[in-house]
Amino acid sequence: MNKCKIAIYPGSFDPVTNGHLDIIQRGSRIFNRVIIAVLKNERKDPFFTVAERSEMLERAIRPFDNVEVASFDGLLVDFAKEMDAGVVIRGLRAVTDFDYEFQLALMNRRLNRDVETIFLMPSAEYSYLSSSQVKEAVSLGGSVEGLVPDFVEEMILDKLKRIRKNS
Ligand code: PNS
Repeated sequence: MNKCKIAIYPGSFDPVTNGHLDIIQRGSRIFNRVIIAVLKNERKDPFFTVAERSEMLERAIRPFDNVEVASFDGLLVDFAKEMDAGVVIRGLRAVTDFDYEFQLALMNRRLNRDVETIFLMPSAEYSYLSSSQVKEAVSLGGSVEGLVPDFVEEMILDKLKRIRKNS
C-alpha cells in the first residue's frame, strides 16, 4: 500500500482503550505519520489529567515508529493546520456514533475545507467499547482484561484508590 500524508487522531482518550489502539494501528499502516491529539478538555472534567492520558498513550504506542502523541486545546482544525496534517482520523463504532461524528466532520469541514475526515472501523470485538464503560466497570470491581492494556487497568485502580482516600 502506498502511504500518504500526516494524519491527526484526536480524542479525549480518558483512558486509551484497545479500540483506540486498533484504530491507531490501522492509521499507522495508511499514513506516513499519525499524531494522536489529546484534548485538554478541562470542561469535560476528565478522570485522568492530560499528562496522565499522554503518558499512557506514549507507553501504548511504543510498537509503532510513525505514531506520536501531542495535546491540544482550541479548534481541532487549527491544530491540524499547525501540525501540517490534512487528514483527521475518527473511529466509527456501532451506529450510535454516526450522528455525532457526522456533525463533527461537517463542522470541521466548514471551518477548514483543506482538512478531510476519514473514518476507520475497529475490530468487531471493540465495536461497543467505550472509555466510560471501562471506567465504570473498574470502579465497580469488574475486570476489563483484554479491553485496555493491563497497565491502563492498573492506572485506573491506582487513581480510584487515591480519589477514595482523599474523599
Ligand atoms: O474522544 P472524543 O471526546 O469523542 O473526542 C472529541 C474531539 C476531541 C474530537 C472533539 O471534541 C474536538 O475536536 N474538540 C476540539 C474543539 C473542536 O474543534 N470542536 C469541533 C468543532 S466546533
